[in-house]
Order: sequence, then structure tokens, then C-alpha cells
Amino acid sequence: MNNPFVYGEIAVGKAFVGRKEELSDIARGLESGERIFLISPRRFGKTSLIVNLLERLRNKGLLTAYIDLYRAASLEQLAALFAEEVLLKSETKLETVARLAREIVPLLRPKISVDQDGQLSAALDIGRSPGEQSAALAELLNAAEKIARRRGKRLVIAFDEFQEVAGLGGESLEKLMRSVFQGHHNVSYIFSGSKQHLIEDMVNNKNRAFYKLGRVLFLGKIPEKDFRAFITERFAAIDATVNEAAFRRILSETASIPYYVQYLCSFLWNKCREGSGLSEKLVAETAAHIADTQAPLYLGMLEHLTLKQRKILQVASRNPGEKLYSHDVIERNRLGPAPTVQVSLNLLLKKGILEKENGGYAFSDPFFRLWVLKNSLT
Ligand SMILES: Nc1ncnc2c1ncn2[C@@H]1O[C@H](COP(=O)(O)OP(=O)(O)OP(=O)(O)O)[C@@H](O)[C@H]1O
Ligand SMILES: [Mg+2]
Repeated sequence: MNNPFVYGEIAVGKAFVGRKEELSDIARGLESGERIFLISPRRFGKTSLIVNLLERLRNKGLLTAYIDLYRAASLEQLAALFAEEVLLKSETKLETVARLAREIVPLLRPKISVDQDGQLSAALDIGRSPGEQSAALAELLNAAEKIARRRGKRLVIAFDEFQEVAGLGGESLEKLMRSVFQGHHNVSYIFSGSKQHLIEDMVNNKNRAFYKLGRVLFLGKIPEKDFRAFITERFAAIDATVNEAAFRRILSETASIPYYVQYLCSFLWNKCREGSGLSEKLVAETAAHIADTQAPLYLGMLEHLTLKQRKILQVASRNPGEKLYSHDVIERNRLGPAPTVQVSLNLLLKKGILEKENGGYAFSDPFFRLWVLKNSLT
């Protein structure tokens, strides 16, 4: 029997837990033409949600495209990726795609070819000068609306790791995208990314192109009841019982973050397979063991931090979710002048080590928290 707990992969099919309301809400929004920004700290399940959402929309007869901007390292690659996902996947026959491309993206002079496996690929010329490039990119992005109109179907495009556009094309690309997207009535967009502070700045900062371009949706953790059923059933299949204390401990050691819940459960499942009983003690030991195995990574991270940042992490490890900038916490832990604490906190957020949570701060990686807690002097 395969381990039913997966982490580091997109959760699909039976591995996908809960998110019923989010799926219906976002699907409804996109079907009616909304633009949506999906925001959460790292590893809460944005990509998994999007992939499941697109599948649901395809089943309802909509066209969909998924664009992971981490796959593009230049504007040319961004163009090729967009062409591949939006243009090439809209048709199956080489001749039809080639004709479509000549008609709707003539500036790009696309050369479409087919490999041995029947996969289509496009070689595009987006030009050299900034002027040529923006004209070419505008033409390409507008192809989405043309395809949707021709097919008489709504097209939903998901941009994942959307914060990367800033690095790929700067302000001018953001402005270009905004003006193009605003003109589209048959294409809906969903934007998401793993760098929460960057995405938040894109949508909250009045001076940025994406300010108020769509609805901002914060994705929370997966509710306890959904995880409870999912976890209990999977352990029951190997005759292991998850008692209340063990379940609570799984959630507390992982801060209920989906990725870490799956990570810990995957290890626990292996141990139960080998005959261990699933006790709270086993959960705590396994979490501590996982944290220990990550020591080289954590030491590497600490190396790049100042003493003050390390001190702040120690305080954060003892008090998850604490308002670390408050006068009381700063005094009690002798963190020094408040403005310097704020600077350190901002850097820890920027580095992705801490995340904001309900006005306080929490570790992005709960095993790093465990490790800091265990290895710091009080
Ligand atoms: N709905 C879900 N059901 C089950 N597991 C999930 C779900 N959502 C997330 N996970 C778990 O969390 C892991 C990370 O999910 P995913 O990659 O979708 O998150 P993300 O928010 O896109 O992360 P990142 O911010 O790093 O891009 C998955 O591999 C899976 O283990
Ligand atoms: Mg993701």
C-alpha cells in the first residue's frame, strides 16, 4: 500500500482535502468574469486549490490555462510559456494551431512544430527593443480573449507565482498586463503566489498596476474537521487509531499548515505500518526527529541572520502568533529599541522565515520553530 499522505506535490483527486466553499466561491466568481487574487502564507495549498479549481471548470465546459511563472526566466520564456498554455493547448491539430497563430498573433511570427510524441511547441520572436517587445506581448496576451471569443467559451487563466512578473518585466510589464486584462470580457484571471508580502504589495499599493484590479481572497488553513476525517480514515486503513490527544498534537506541531500536516502524517504512517501505536508521544517524537533532520538547512538559515533576528526567532518559537512588536514583549525579552525590532521583523518576513498571523507572527516552517525552541537557551 502506498503512503496516502503526500507533501511537496500538488494534492489532487483523493489526496485533496476540503476547500469545498473556497472552490465554489472562486469557481462562481471566475465563471462570472471576476479577477481574483488568492493570497496565503507559503504551503497552505494555493496551487493545489487552483489546479483542482481548473479541473472543475473544465468539467463545466470552460477553457482553462495554468501558467507557473517560476518556469519563465526571461520575457521570451514567458511569451513561449503563455503561447504554449493558452494558444497551443486550445487546439490539437498542428495545421489548425498554425493557422490560428498566424491569424491572431501575426507580429510574433510563430513557428509551430510538433515533436515525436505529438507535443506542439512554438518558437516566437518577441523582438529586441522595449517597444517591439511590449507590442508582441500585448498581442500575445490579447490572443486569450480572441481564443475565448472564437470558441464561444469563457477562458480562465491562472497565473501562479505571479509576483515574478515584477522581476521579468518590471513596472512596464505590470502596466501592460493591467491594461490588456481590463479589456478582456471573455477571460477570467486568478493570480496567486508563494511570496505573500510581494503579492500583497502588488494589490494593496496604490502606486502599483494591479491595485484594485480584482477581488483579494485570503486562503486560510484547512478546517480541523476536514483534516480529522481525512487523517483518521487513512490511519484506520492500516488499523491505527488516532486518538484525540494524538490528533491535537499533529495539529499543534504543524501549526495546522497543510503541507506540514501531510509531512508529519506521512512519517507517522510509516511508523504505524512498522507496528508502532499512534500515541501523542509518537507524534511529538516524530516531529522532533523531522526537525532534527533539517538541522543543516536551519543552521544555514541562521548563519545569514543578525543576533537580533535570532533573538526574535527564539521569542517567536516560545510564543507562536505573539505580537512581537508590542511594548510588553520587547521589554520582557529585552529586544532593544522598538524601531530596530520592527526592521528585523520586516526582514524576517521578507526572507520568508516568519509570516504574519492574526496580527502576530508565526514561523513559516513549524519544524524550524521546534528546532529553534529545542536549541535555544532561555
Ligand atoms: N486541499 C489540500 N488537501 C490535502 N493536502 C493539501 C491541500 N492543500 C495543500 N496540501 C498539502 O500542502 C502541500 C503544499 O500545497 P501547495 O503546493 O498547493 O501549496 P501552496 O500554497 O501553493 O505552496 P507555495 O506557497 O509553496 O506555492 C501539498 O503538497 C499537500 O501536501
Ligand atoms: Mg504554490
